[in-house]
Amino acid sequence: MRRLSLLMDLVGLQSSPTAPLYLLDAGCGKGWFSRELARFGHRVDGIDGSEAALENARQNGGGPRYHQSSLSGWRSPWLYDVVLCVDVLFHILDDGEWERSVRNLASLVRLGGRLVVADWDADHDEPMGNYQVLRGRNTYLPLLSALGMRLDGYHPYDFRRSVIGFYAFTRTS
Ligand SMILES: C[S@@+](CC[C@H](N)C(=O)[O-])C[C@H]1O[C@@H](n2cnc3c(N)ncnc32)[C@H](O)[C@@H]1O
Repeated sequence: MRRLSLLMDLVGLQSSPTAPLYLLDAGCGKGWFSRELARFGHRVDGIDGSEAALENARQNGGGPRYHQSSLSGWRSPWLYDVVLCVDVLFHILDDGEWERSVRNLASLVRLGGRLVVADWDADHDEPMGNYQVLRGRNTYLPLLSALGMRLDGYHPYDFRRSVIGFYAFTRTS
């Protein structure tokens, strides 16, 4: 699947049983990406606001640890090598909650680690009906660069007519 192969490139294929990567799958839903990433030996925390989705994820087992939490509310005793947020942020309609979510996810990335978030590649923001808000570079970049994150690239999904892709940021300070 296209998104998984993009994620694998961004996460890096190297993993070692003695030094697995620590990953956070933020808004993991039923845990499909969490499970796939855990299969490569990574240690994956999956968080989601929906207990029903997490129940389904837990039934599928496979190694990830799941926790019910909002993106803005998740606290962790460790920092992550990579924080992923796949097809979640554009479902957060409230700009204040969106910003708290992005700030919190960025704060959980270790120095040199990555934040990978899915959104569109336009400059501006745009509501899609009353159920999504696509946010663009002019919203992500100022916020994340002020938090010590450097944009390393944008990777479009390139399937069907999707306008979505992954912004890949690295923590530099
Ligand atoms: C479209 S699904 C994507 C699930 C998964 N990342 C994937 O790509 O298969 C969006 C998920 O984000 C969760 N979600 C939306 N807003 C959230 C928030 N503020 N905090 C935590 N989870 C949230 C929903 O419960 C849902 O499971």
